[in-house]
Amino acid sequence: MNKIYSNEIISWEDIGLISLWSDVLGYIRTGILNIRPATQDDINSILMLRYKATENRLRNTITYEMIASSLQKSCKAWVADDEGVVVGFSLANKKQKCLWGLFVLSSYQGKGVGEQLLQRAVSWLTCEARDYLIFKPKKIWLDTELGGRAESFYQHMGWERGEFRPDGEVRYWYLL
Ligand SMILES: CC(C)(COP(=O)(O)OP(=O)(O)OC[C@H]1O[C@@H](n2cnc3c(N)ncnc32)[C@H](O)[C@@H]1OP(=O)(O)O)[C@@H](O)C(=O)NCCC(=O)NCCS
Repeated sequence: MNKIYSNEIISWEDIGLISLWSDVLGYIRTGILNIRPATQDDINSILMLRYKATENRLRNTITYEMIASSLQKSCKAWVADDEGVVVGFSLANKKQKCLWGLFVLSSYQGKGVGEQLLQRAVSWLTCEARDYLIFKPKKIWLDTELGGRAESFYQHMGWERGEFRPDGEVRYWYLL
């Protein structure tokens, strides 16, 4: 089942409204109103969440500098902020047209936080895709652990399973 961001041509105004509506729905569901763009001050929290993950464990080292530099170039991240504590993040790369990461602290999972963070990233990629995908199929991708819970989550969110990757992960596609 596709979610709210799916397969329609979305204008800047629509995206603003969707974000606002998704904030309201998200708050009703999770009590966390503040899904916001990440700043440099959030990078350590993002790293902590990424290193703490027990599923989709990190395979390569990532550093503060790597994330800071990616945010200054082609990436954007969002955090779920519960009264000053970062409890989840998503990070997307518009140049590679992909979702690089989506992680929610285990005690906050199952409350709609992951869906809100995913929605922000997909809406942004949809907008940015205008520049990068003009003559190409409008789709974005992510790689995730084979057989993990994330696989069924992405399927539930309307993503389609694609090819197996040499590193043992599986690629997922989402048609914009
Ligand atoms: C995968 C993850 C991001 C999902 O976030 P979450 O906050 O727990 O998910 P949500 O509460 O927003 O769920 C949204 C919807 O997806 C469904 N859902 C959540 N996890 C699911 C799963 N494993 N399988 C199927 N559906 C799932 C929920 O039931 C909900 O459905 P509804 O809107 O129809 O009621 C989170 O579990 C996580 O961080 N996992 C560990 C890290 C990881 O593997 N990340 C992916 C890296 S690629």
